[in-house]
Amino acid sequence: MMNPNVPPNGDSSRTSSRVGFLGAGRMAQMLARLFLRAGHEVVLTNSRGPDSLVEVIAALGPGASAAWPATLADRCDVIVLAVPWAHVADALRSLGDVHGAVVIDTTNNRVGPRPEDIVDLGGRGSSEVVAELVPSARVVKAFNHQPIPSLATLGEPGAPRALFLAGDDDAAKSIVAELIRAIGGVPIDTGGLVEGGRLQSTGGGPLAGHGRLLTVEEATTALADARRTYRLNR
Ligand SMILES: NC(=O)c1ccc[n+]([C@@H]2O[C@H](COP(=O)([O-])OP(=O)(O)OC[C@H]3O[C@@H](n4cnc5c(N)ncnc54)[C@H](OP(=O)(O)O)[C@@H]3O)[C@@H](O)[C@H]2O)c1
Repeated sequence: MMNPNVPPNGDSSRTSSRVGFLGAGRMAQMLARLFLRAGHEVVLTNSRGPDSLVEVIAALGPGASAAWPATLADRCDVIVLAVPWAHVADALRSLGDVHGAVVIDTTNNRVGPRPEDIVDLGGRGSSEVVAELVPSARVVKAFNHQPIPSLATLGEPGAPRALFLAGDDDAAKSIVAELIRAIGGVPIDTGGLVEGGRLQSTGGGPLAGHGRLLTVEEATTALADARRTYRLNR
């Protein structure tokens, strides 16, 4: 579980979490709004620098700021990777050494919306590639399996909505699960980055591509079905 009272940057007066974003586009802004609503701070970055994000930060309001990617690991409790697949390697490189930071990988290995737009990773899940590119991070795959606009419905009245997460570090997964709860979702742990990550992967993973957020009951059933039927090729 995240301990919001002991942030890694040593600012003991801070009681909320500070969530950094690699990327400032649709995914980053959607999650930033949700985290701000939950009382957290957000720091957005892109490849062009903070000056290019003045309007985005103003629209997000209090609690939002912009920075350069290289400052995120020191300033933030968690870093969200939210850039298109083609920019993942460059973006992760721009972080520098993240020395154990929790990195939430929201990416999908696609370059467009069509089935043929999937980038062939030789059977691996995208987060396995991400974890290789940033070996000192604790990578958790989350927020990749649903359309971005559907996240806006989190916390609305009705059946609670599930969000899947996968990763190899239990403490990191607990931190991400807590963030999911804070924005009104119910975290469903799909397993490690290989097994769970592939279940959640776009382009064939049985937990992705539903086109909406699943209810907890739907997600639990889908995960049980997936574990029963999905064949993992190593
Ligand atoms: N579409 C969906 O419904 C959906 C659902 C789940 C997951 N996803 C995934 O979410 C991720 C983000 O998608 P999006 O729709 O939010 O993309 P987007 O709107 O195109 O935004 C991409 C952001 O990444 C920034 N960026 C590009 N290169 C960068 C770099 N080297 N360093 C830092 N920032 C960089 C861009 O800013 P600059 O160009 O100014 O640097 C921009 O702010 C993708 O991997 C996508 O597959 C999408």
